[in-house]
Amino acid sequence: MNLGLAGKACVVNGGSRGIGLATARMLCEEKAKVLLVARGEEGLRAAAEECPGSEWLALDATDPDAGERIVSECERRFGSFDVLVNNSGTSSVTPLEDLTDDDWEEQWRLNVMGPMRLMRAVAPRMAERGFGRIVNVVSSSGKRPTGTNMAYSVGKAAQLSLSRAFADLYASKGVLVNAVAPGPVSTDLWMGEGGMLDQLAKLRGVSREEALEAQSSRVPINRYATEDEIASVIVFLCSERASYVAGAAWSVDGGTVQVII
Ligand SMILES: NC(=O)c1ccc[n+]([C@@H]2O[C@H](COP(=O)([O-])OP(=O)(O)OC[C@H]3O[C@@H](n4cnc5c(N)ncnc54)[C@H](OP(=O)(O)O)[C@@H]3O)[C@@H](O)[C@H]2O)c1
Repeated sequence: MNLGLAGKACVVNGGSRGIGLATARMLCEEKAKVLLVARGEEGLRAAAEECPGSEWLALDATDPDAGERIVSECERRFGSFDVLVNNSGTSSVTPLEDLTDDDWEEQWRLNVMGPMRLMRAVAPRMAERGFGRIVNVVSSSGKRPTGTNMAYSVGKAAQLSLSRAFADLYASKGVLVNAVAPGPVSTDLWMGEGGMLDQLAKLRGVSREEALEAQSSRVPINRYATEDEIASVIVFLCSERASYVAGAAWSVDGGTVQVII
């Protein structure tokens, strides 16, 4: 299947590892031009080596001027800005009583203000050119909150709403905005040392293996996703082939959120 991504100018926010890096790798395989964005320069440099033809930009996606800077850098380097993947994000295993006001505000900045400023800056320019794809990476816990981290669930629910609101505004102008909602994925966020799996094991007083088995058993497919399984869906939604998908919130969660719509 020709995805029509060759030569397209793409930005992957949170592109230095995990789901973002897997997405960038696939976009580069399709001969797209990719700008990787994250905070850490070292991670970006290593990621760019895995993505032939990519470039990188180090910044914090929650900075007030991040949206404008990403748009101008992408257009300066590639001459256009056709595809945006809003993927930067993070979480932790933190019960409600331990979540601080700063934790709540950080999730708001990461999932709402950052993506909103970027979409607000780029969507009108995509509309002028008559083509654009925007994919917001949310979470199954944005559709159905979990107690793992309530601030994260609420932030992702808000990002779903943001995604739908931009989709309504821009669908008729050739700019298609959609969301992808992964369930648990075996990236560093969960699996890395001190990551969410270790945090959960500690909280429950069980081993890492027991925590993984318990979490996996909550997923009908009975395992965590690989990052490529999420990236494949994101890349399809970025493609010319997804020309009749707008305002969707596709679950890629192994059946975790049990709804029929
Ligand atoms: N893994 C899962 O189970 C899962 C499930 C559902 C949804 N998701 C969502 O999927 C997305 C990617 O998750 P992942 O598992 O791939 O995470 P990850 O492996 O921790 O990667 C996160 C990426 O985002 C970047 N990032 C984080 N904060 C940033 C900031 N303030 N500004 C710019 N970049 C930032 C990180 O780079 P730097 O740290 O260098 O900035 C990194 O490139 C997130 O939105 C996450 O909420 C993940």
